[in-house]
Amino acid sequence: MLKPTRLLLLGAPGSGKGTISRKLLKRFPQLHSISSGDVLRSHISRGTKIGREAETLIKAGSLVPDSTMIGLIAEQLKELGGLNGEASWLLDGFPRTLSQAQGLTEILDASGADLNMVVELDVDQEIILQRIDARWVHLPSGRIYSLDYNPPKVPFTDDVTGEKLVKRDDDNPETFSKRLLVYNEEVGPLREYYETLGTWHRVSGDSSDIIYPKVERLLLRD
Ligand code: AP5
Ligand code: MG
Repeated sequence: MLKPTRLLLLGAPGSGKGTISRKLLKRFPQLHSISSGDVLRSHISRGTKIGREAETLIKAGSLVPDSTMIGLIAEQLKELGGLNGEASWLLDGFPRTLSQAQGLTEILDASGADLNMVVELDVDQEIILQRIDARWVHLPSGRIYSLDYNPPKVPFTDDVTGEKLVKRDDDNPETFSKRLLVYNEEVGPLREYYETLGTWHRVSGDSSDIIYPKVERLLLRD
């Protein structure tokens, strides 16, 4: 990866955005990542006004309003120094509506740090449904485990801190189906938008082990 990379990982809930992000950060230390879900969960755990509003929506599998999300991510980008032409970063989970994408373009246009690659993780949704049952997380760090795919060293315990793992509130079958539905509704216009801008790529595969090397190759090619 020679030139600054500013990447959006797009994909259904459970498609592996968080898992692929972590692998990319290990491989490319100059990348910084912002996960919109992790940012929201941090607000919830701190009990902020945004957190209180987001909590109900997330539990119901609905989206947080576009204006809130655009403000939150703009703030995060500023904080990590992401609004200059030399910065490299990846976004996981934002934008996920056309209006968020347009909002992000406006913020970035004013800064000289354009979003130069969008990668859609394309995973069979039947497989995703099987996966989510096995997911456990360490909420403070956002570390993700799967009882089958990448189990913790000690059952239900975070490898780094030794703290207990938990299930996300929105990972029950009912909420999860709603999240999939919302994703399928929103992704079409988003895909078209980035196709028109010439930044959109799709990477297909039923396992992150198949998908990850393909994403890495895209980043190395550019
Ligand atoms: P968010 O936290 O972003 O959730 P999501 O997009 O629904 O995606 P997930 O985090 O569930 O999945 P992932 O793709 O990261 O998959 P993972 O790597 O964990 O958002 C949560 C909520 O916040 C939203 O519903 C919404 O309410 C709100 N929100 C967030 N952003 C918003 C926005 N921009 N606008 C409005 N609202 C917003 O992988 C899944 C599991 O699979 C893991 O257990 C993993 O270990 C396992 N796994 C990965 N690879 C494999 C493999 N090869 N084989 C087996 N298991 C595997
Ligand atoms: Mg995630």
